[in-house]
Amino acid sequence: MPRQLFVTTALPYANGHFHIGHIMEYIQADIWVRFQRMQGNQVHFVGADDAHGAPIMIAAEKAGKTPQQFVADIAAGRKPYLDGFHISFDHWSSTDSPENHELAREVYLALKAAGLITVRPIEQFFDPDKGMFLPDRFIKGECPKCGAKDQYGDSCEVCGAVYAPTELKNPYSALSGATPVMKTSDHYFFKLSDPRCVEFLQNWTQDGKLQSEVANKIREWFTKEENGEGGLGDWDISRDAPYFGIEIPDAPGKYFYVWLDAPIGYLASLKSYFASGGPKATYGESRSFDEFMADPAVEQVHFIGKDITYFHTLFWPAMLQFSGRKLPTQVNVHGFMTVNNGEKMSKSRGTGLDPLKYLSLGMNAEWLRYYIAAKLNSRVEDVDFNKDDFVARVNSDLVGKYINIASRAAGFLSKRFQGRLTQHLAADGKALLATLQAGLPTVTTLFEERELGKVLREIMLLADRVNEYVDANKPWELAKQEGQDARLHDVCTVCIEAFRILTIYLKPVLPALAGQVEAFLNVTPMSLAKSQELLGVHTIGEYKHLMQRVDPKMLEALFEAPAPVVEAPKPGGGQGTASMPPEGGLALGRPGGEDIAPTITIDDFTKIDLRIAKIVNAEHVEGSTKLLRLTLDVGEGRTRNVFSGIKEAYKPEDLIGKHTVMVANLAPRKMKFGVSEGMVLAASHADEKGTPGIYVLEPVAGAQPGMRVR
Ligand code: 2FM
Ligand code: ZN
Repeated sequence: MPRQLFVTTALPYANGHFHIGHIMEYIQADIWVRFQRMQGNQVHFVGADDAHGAPIMIAAEKAGKTPQQFVADIAAGRKPYLDGFHISFDHWSSTDSPENHELAREVYLALKAAGLITVRPIEQFFDPDKGMFLPDRFIKGECPKCGAKDQYGDSCEVCGAVYAPTELKNPYSALSGATPVMKTSDHYFFKLSDPRCVEFLQNWTQDGKLQSEVANKIREWFTKEENGEGGLGDWDISRDAPYFGIEIPDAPGKYFYVWLDAPIGYLASLKSYFASGGPKATYGESRSFDEFMADPAVEQVHFIGKDITYFHTLFWPAMLQFSGRKLPTQVNVHGFMTVNNGEKMSKSRGTGLDPLKYLSLGMNAEWLRYYIAAKLNSRVEDVDFNKDDFVARVNSDLVGKYINIASRAAGFLSKRFQGRLTQHLAADGKALLATLQAGLPTVTTLFEERELGKVLREIMLLADRVNEYVDANKPWELAKQEGQDARLHDVCTVCIEAFRILTIYLKPVLPALAGQVEAFLNVTPMSLAKSQELLGVHTIGEYKHLMQRVDPKMLEALFEAPAPVVEAPKPGGGQGTASMPPEGGLALGRPGGEDIAPTITIDDFTKIDLRIAKIVNAEHVEGSTKLLRLTLDVGEGRTRNVFSGIKEAYKPEDLIGKHTVMVANLAPRKMKFGVSEGMVLAASHADEKGTPGIYVLEPVAGAQPGMRVR
């Protein structure tokens, strides 16, 4: 009987694009999923965007979008990553789907019926300007220990102290700058401290299904002092409006905390996949989602990063158990991805590995799949991407040991034997092929156990055996010798048969390459079991080059620091405009042709005084090809003189009478043509050399000179 597997990866927050950590997890899970499918097992592999929560609500507001539009825009950008790295999700949904709203309410009501929900008043910081309770990361202030300014509400980045937001000195809201006040409201809790939960979790986490280091960590959590009590505390699952989330039944103004409905999103995505008819079309599945999930034979498998272990091994199984649902069969925890010897990833320092940049440089997705697989095991260890190691593994192992087998044999077969294989194989070749076929049980076990580094080592050892055979028989010499045709035919046939078996073993890791090999060999898609057969009487197709070696220059380009954001005025533009000079490089993932500048604090931003200005006059500047002289009214009872490098884009008469935005507190600057008393804001693309394509900012009608822009 084929196994029935429901497989998920952690649902990514819908407030940013995928980074290399996401891609690593998807590659790990995808390899396991493809391996299962190649064994004839039934797999439903689903993902979704994690749409809810305060950070997404706030980011949407900043972007001037509804949260729904904001997450839809992020979702629309997912495809190039998933397709680009050959990640074979069957379905992708969102935690804001109708299925998730419904399932979250059902789970909650079941927990409530089981007597596991309680309500308690909680005192928390409240932003009086924004009218909302502040999540810890949106409260800042001075560290209670070392006094460092602008520290987050949970820990100090300077001295490392951990504290409650209420301990911060001079706290302020990172959203509005207002001083937060303490306010009480009722919160809903999942009673994890209930003896039923404690007993269940102690058994479920310690019965051997979890990785040993994960089970050990959980034991620490059970015994750790938390708020002065030993063991698990109750879990606060509600947030007050305004909140982007799912409303709690019979509790107006209360929403589920994002981490309550996020994992339920796994079920909701599968449910929506069932509704789309996917399982029926793929496997002839005739049961409903509920019937499928009620089948004890169905295995539920999660792949997650180590940072979210707590949620997936305590909260999630408890939610499922006490709402009467299937429990996870496996929770496979992996470590983080680091780059170039564990250096912390940072875009500005150029050490990050940007997945889209990788693809846009023409780097082969399957190099990365192979490399990541080579570094992964079944433990919770970090994986380091190292440039030299990457080049060595791809060029020496993947291309040097494996691809070369085909390239060394295929030419002779097509030129001398019209691509036909021979059935007259000598004993040495037969023995070699039998050795390769005997590798299947080990390969199967290692894939099943997610020992991907080990399985690739095993396959490369088999490739070594094939290369020894090639070196011993030297087809290039046989080809030159009289009367050696039959032996040449034999040796080349053995090479192609061997190459085919190795390709089957590598197919979960290198699916696109395996597809090319299938076309070249003239065979239908290969399952694992096919490794135990030989092609026999068969004619292969024309060999076309299957895979390039990595050019180390590509890695230089991949890790090249993005061009610094230049704060200087435009050439010849004096303090005229804030638009940036052109920079080279790839536009992909770089809005407007340049990377987003390093993060600043609200304090940094408020130092810049932006005001609405009326352009009361505009004129050419004698002797300048770039500048216009603007006379601006900022409501000060006097006008200002500002030179702006926008001459090529605007006729002076088209600007007079318009409103715009200016930096009003920039130090005056003496220029060749006079003193410039500020700077007008304009938009341009980084690659737009010169002035065409400059757009002076204009507020929506109604803004008055002197109004502050914030
Ligand atoms: O840590 C995260 O990125 C979360 N969005 C993961 C959620 S996994 C699941 F619970 F949805
Ligand atoms: Zn500190």
